[in-house]
Amino acid sequence: MTEFIDIKGVKHAYDTASGKLPVLDGLDVSVPEGGFVAVVGPSGCGKSTLTKLVAGLMKPDEGEVWLNKTPVTSPRSTVGMAFQNPVLLEWRSIIDNVLLPLEIVPTVLTKRQQQERARKLLSLVGLEGFEEKRPSELSGGMRQRASLCRALVHSPDVLILDEPFGALDAFTREDLWQVMHQVKKEEPFTGVLITHDLRESIYLADQVIVLSGRPAKTQYVLDTGHKGARDIEMLYTPEAAEMLHTLRRQIEIAQGRIPAEAAQ
Ligand SMILES: Nc1ncnc2c1ncn2[C@@H]1O[C@H](COP(=O)(O)OP(=O)(O)O)[C@@H](O)[C@H]1O
Ligand SMILES: [Mg+2]
Repeated sequence: MTEFIDIKGVKHAYDTASGKLPVLDGLDVSVPEGGFVAVVGPSGCGKSTLTKLVAGLMKPDEGEVWLNKTPVTSPRSTVGMAFQNPVLLEWRSIIDNVLLPLEIVPTVLTKRQQQERARKLLSLVGLEGFEEKRPSELSGGMRQRASLCRALVHSPDVLILDEPFGALDAFTREDLWQVMHQVKKEEPFTGVLITHDLRESIYLADQVIVLSGRPAKTQYVLDTGHKGARDIEMLYTPEAAEMLHTLRRQIEIAQGRIPAEAAQ
């Protein structure tokens, strides 16, 4: 296994009241160190299951999940996660929400260094001055920024984002995309972004992986030809239009709406 994140031949089925539900069947995902991969696919195909495997929250029935040349067997603090609905604790200030993971998993940082780290992250995402506010005093976009800081507070090697911007309006979402590029520059990580927004996938990621319908396998991989921060104008280029078209067709194939030959 040579890449930072290596998922090879993963198969997994859930036990349900009506028997086994095969969810993943031949999943391959590789992300080099510092890379940023977006994963798209039909609803219910197994995307969140993939994030749980990388985070070590569950083990696959078959296949391998490696992180930094080590097989993943248990949860790790070197993996940060952020979700669509940021669960922030209402009785804690924003900064205390960001500090929470440091209370749960021990850190070498002193109390003072922890405070400095949280303030630095909040300032990086544009939340300077909001440290002492309560979550309900912030907009949805601001809560998502705070949740991103919380995911980063342990300086994770890997950041997993499971549809983090899905509930935001289009303009707020685009602001958050720019924040993501900024964050990645200042706080380097290897990233996996689950999204159903194809524009988001090509604007943020180096590579977009399309999963097939359930049980999911890796159906298609698209290189965006970009790494790191890029101008939002890239979304209005003919190359972007072509990539979006290709991805759209791959999604339709994954949904079983058009035959695979249609991609040719
Ligand atoms: N713990 C579980 N037990 C049983 N079924 C589950 C469990 N978690 C998810 N599923 C089912 O597995 C399928 C894939 O789930 P998920 O990975 O969350 O899909 P996605 O994130 O792509 O929408 C869905 O049909 C879901 O209902
Ligand atoms: Mg999901």
